[in-house]
Amino acid sequence: MVKTIEWKDGKVLMLDQSRLPLEVNYVECSDYLKVAEGIKKLWIRGAPAIGIAAAMGIALGAQDITASNYKNFKTGLQKVMDDMLATRPTAVNIKWAVERVTKLLSDNKDRTVDELKAMLIAEGIKVLEEDIEINKAIGRWGGQFIKDGDTILTHCNAGSLATGGYGTATAPMLVAIEQGKRIQVIADETRPVLQGARLTSWELMQAGVPVTLITDNMAGAIMKKGKIDLAIVGTDRTTRNGDVANKIGTYTVAILCKEHKIPFYVAAPLSSIDFKMSSGDKIPIEERAPEEVTTIWGHRVAPEGVNVINLAFDVTPAKYVSALFTEKGAYRPRDIKSLAKKDMDLESIRLKP
Ligand code: MRU
Repeated sequence: MVKTIEWKDGKVLMLDQSRLPLEVNYVECSDYLKVAEGIKKLWIRGAPAIGIAAAMGIALGAQDITASNYKNFKTGLQKVMDDMLATRPTAVNIKWAVERVTKLLSDNKDRTVDELKAMLIAEGIKVLEEDIEINKAIGRWGGQFIKDGDTILTHCNAGSLATGGYGTATAPMLVAIEQGKRIQVIADETRPVLQGARLTSWELMQAGVPVTLITDNMAGAIMKKGKIDLAIVGTDRTTRNGDVANKIGTYTVAILCKEHKIPFYVAAPLSSIDFKMSSGDKIPIEERAPEEVTTIWGHRVAPEGVNVINLAFDVTPAKYVSALFTEKGAYRPRDIKSLAKKDMDLESIRLKP
């Protein structure tokens, strides 16, 4: 499986996903601003992957701070963390990474600056390694909801490329295949940036998963023919009430699923759940450059000067979500808030297929 991001020789190496699948290039980031640029320009994208990039970017930024005491080091690191937070607003994973690093610092106030710098590198690597294990757990829970012969619709890329490896929405598919189930995947192309066409179909083909590419506006017609059994998508931020922000077009898929009585599942690692936010209408939605809509890979397809709306994400209300697959099991959206409670008996609310 191709590596999305890694810490190598004191630098962050990231696969430039903006040119995939035609060019497979790695960008070497030797300072944190390059990592931030990579997140903004979608060299690396997908909520868990940008959380990992933020953690590694913070570790990289820490190495250049010249402070000799804890207080000044923390002030220097705050600027690095603020720059990371300013890259992309919708995925909560960057905030999650910043909070994780902040806790690490406050738990280790007695350490020297050199020790803290080393701990931050170790933390960035740990975030990556943990992410892969989390995805495999999501796969084990979510895979139970896939039957032999199923055809699964997915939107955008919540695969290996969007994570440290294995993917979130793709993990149940990979587990199903490992269990010998014969499945088919239908990938929405996902305009404007074409994550489905360029990334999901590419990585699933490499993983030996039978995949068929469609344009976004075909999903309804294919559902009407009875050719889709379930949908699984990822999430950039799921709020306490189970509302789900994900790539623009996800909301449309969810409504189509409801109309055709098709289960609509969301693969949601806990790092993508914002337990502090009450509902989806509070999620900041990123708006990106109009050129993403007026051009396709540098080729203009719309008249000069046309007005454009380019929302990168939408919010699917909890009522359309059949279940959320997390690393701790599958849950109804209304139960997702319970995952934040210590000593909660999760078995009693876990959803069975
Ligand atoms: O703009 P992108 O490519 O970062 O959007 C990615 C998505 O919407 C994914 O579905 C989401 O981040 C989940 S990735 C496991």
